Amino acid sequence: MSSLIAKNISMSFANSQHSMNVLDDISLELVEGQSIGIIGSSGCGKTTLLQILAGLETPVTGSIYYDNVNLSESNKVQFHKMRSSLFGFVYQFHYLLEDLTLLENCELSFQIMGSKSHAVNRQSIFTIFEELGIFHLKDNYPFMLSGGERQRAAIARAVAHKPTFLLMDEPTGNLDSDNAGIIQELTINLSKKFNMGILVATHDMDYANKLDEVYRIENGKLQKLDHE
Ligand SMILES: Nc1ncnc2c1ncn2[C@@H]1O[C@H](COP(=O)(O)OP(=O)(O)O)[C@@H](O)[C@H]1O
Ligand SMILES: [Mg+2]
Repeated sequence: MSSLIAKNISMSFANSQHSMNVLDDISLELVEGQSIGIIGSSGCGKTTLLQILAGLETPVTGSIYYDNVNLSESNKVQFHKMRSSLFGFVYQFHYLLEDLTLLENCELSFQIMGSKSHAVNRQSIFTIFEELGIFHLKDNYPFMLSGGERQRAAIARAVAHKPTFLLMDEPTGNLDSDNAGIIQELTINLSKKFNMGILVATHDMDYANKLDEVYRIENGKLQKLDHE
């Protein structure tokens, strides 16, 4: 079973005056098909933890393992290949390119990953578009869509290559409650259908409570919560 494991992660940021500890000896495991929510007040370290899990930031101490491979011991080429196929990312803002259609936005992300099989890629994108209810919008540009539709397109782009893990940083933070509800449901369904591990940093307790496990970051520590 595929797993993403953080072991004893500590992180601090230093400026010229002082060093600030953000994460203090945090361990976490996410397996395929599982959903985890990370909550905590602004500035507590949610984004930092996601960045470290995805190998975008290097922790001060601790290690990240993808399928038991220690990230810090893999070479750069291996690591980039592994990272782009293993992960999908969704942020609070959709970051779609405005001069490309939804379909082109998704195809571009396949191209960046070095995938050559155009027909297969297109089929995967169409399947995800159907799943997310945006197939009819595939030739539209992002400015023609509502906020909720744009966020669904960002999710389609993140998962079209069938990553093992989907990391989402406040994906509903910019949406009204109806659209937030749609995104909650769609991402949880995707996780089940494609056996994807999903990790969501969120302020939305309604969302967090629908996930398999919920953790809070407070004073650098990660604490598991009981579902409400
Ligand atoms: N690259 C960085 N350099 C310096 N400080 C940072 C950096 N990234 C995050 N921080 C600081 O670390 C703390 C945690 O930030 P962040 O992980 O973005 O919190 P959250 O996502 O929970 O709001 C904040 O105080 C933030 O200012
Ligand atoms: Mg954040």
